[in-house]
Amino acid sequence: MNDYEDLTKILKQKFYCDENDSIKIKTPGRVNLIGEHTDYNEGFVLPCSIDLTTNFLGIPNKIESKMLRFFSLRLQNTINFSLDHILKDNNWGDYPKGVCLYLKEEKYNLNGIIGIIGGNLPIRCGLASSAALEIGILYLLKKIFNLKMEFINLAKIAFKAERQFVGVECGIMDQFVCTFGKKGYSIFLDCKSLTHEYIKLPEEDVKILIVLTNIQRDASTVLNKRKSECLEAVEILKKYDSSINSLRDLKIECYNKMKSKLPEILQRRCKHVIFENYRVLEAKDALKQQNLELFGKLMCKSHESLSEMYNVGCNESDIVFNSLNKISGVIGCRMTGAGLGGAIIALVETNKIANIIPVVSSEFHTLTNSYPICIIANSSDGVRETNQQC
Ligand code: GLA
Repeated sequence: MNDYEDLTKILKQKFYCDENDSIKIKTPGRVNLIGEHTDYNEGFVLPCSIDLTTNFLGIPNKIESKMLRFFSLRLQNTINFSLDHILKDNNWGDYPKGVCLYLKEEKYNLNGIIGIIGGNLPIRCGLASSAALEIGILYLLKKIFNLKMEFINLAKIAFKAERQFVGVECGIMDQFVCTFGKKGYSIFLDCKSLTHEYIKLPEEDVKILIVLTNIQRDASTVLNKRKSECLEAVEILKKYDSSINSLRDLKIECYNKMKSKLPEILQRRCKHVIFENYRVLEAKDALKQQNLELFGKLMCKSHESLSEMYNVGCNESDIVFNSLNKISGVIGCRMTGAGLGGAIIALVETNKIANIIPVVSSEFHTLTNSYPICIIANSSDGVRETNQQC
């Protein structure tokens, strides 16, 4: 059975509702091609929305006008809350609660709904499943209640929910790309001004291979720790140059002159962020010029810097990285998302994929005794309503 059929069935069986006037929403996950841990430092990123999605089926709650009820097909779990009492619970319900709280704060006119959630986007693997959940629920509410909400507000409200309600010190990259993603393109985003540019992907010749290491990590701990280190560095450097308000403001020459003012660990954190911003700019130009060789090299440098300078690597991701790097047809690869396991992405030549997957799988198995999950992803559009059955 396909996904929306399953969602409809649950709507009937669990909530005794029919699907008339239901709304179907699809929200993509994302891979970040390059620009990691730069977004919360007001820097640059180059992500791309993918065709692994979180799917939503929703209807107004006609019986209890203030109640929201969500069932997650994959977690086999329901969360319920009233718009009049939105309290944090430290579970996945905090994402819908957070977005509702800030929608209410901005005076959007909301009522209760029943929502069923499914899809095939892996959860907690560094592919932006939490942003996909937030953005999908916001879009569902927008469609059901006809809210006059600009797309940029979807991204901003979801970002606020994740930071202030859920408590993860992320940047806006994931929420932005889940909203504005475009099939065939990656997005170059300036996380300070939120100006962005779509950069065409050569999708006929190359594919994005995602390798899941099976290591699930707590992204919030690493993000919160690294963000506070970056802010601490900015506080120190500001004393010597008051024009520095974020690591984005530091040029390489300036960093080289000032780095001795910082403790060694903060020097390494800053080095990653500053050089990663330069790498994104270089990678953007390389992609525009279809210089995939340079693009691939920059991806690999990014991975090494994340491992060595930012310390967000782990043994399993290095195994995948090292193995991919030796295989012909791999243009470049790196960890994507917050790190500490999760996903490694590789840009691979389309006609060599069939040889690449078995090699990386068997090397990983030899060294860890488990198999990674390999997925070939295509770019896709951002959040959207759909009439599809799956
Ligand atoms: C997570 C966050 C993003 C970003 C990345 C690291 O995915 O949600 O905002 O900070 O980690 O680049």
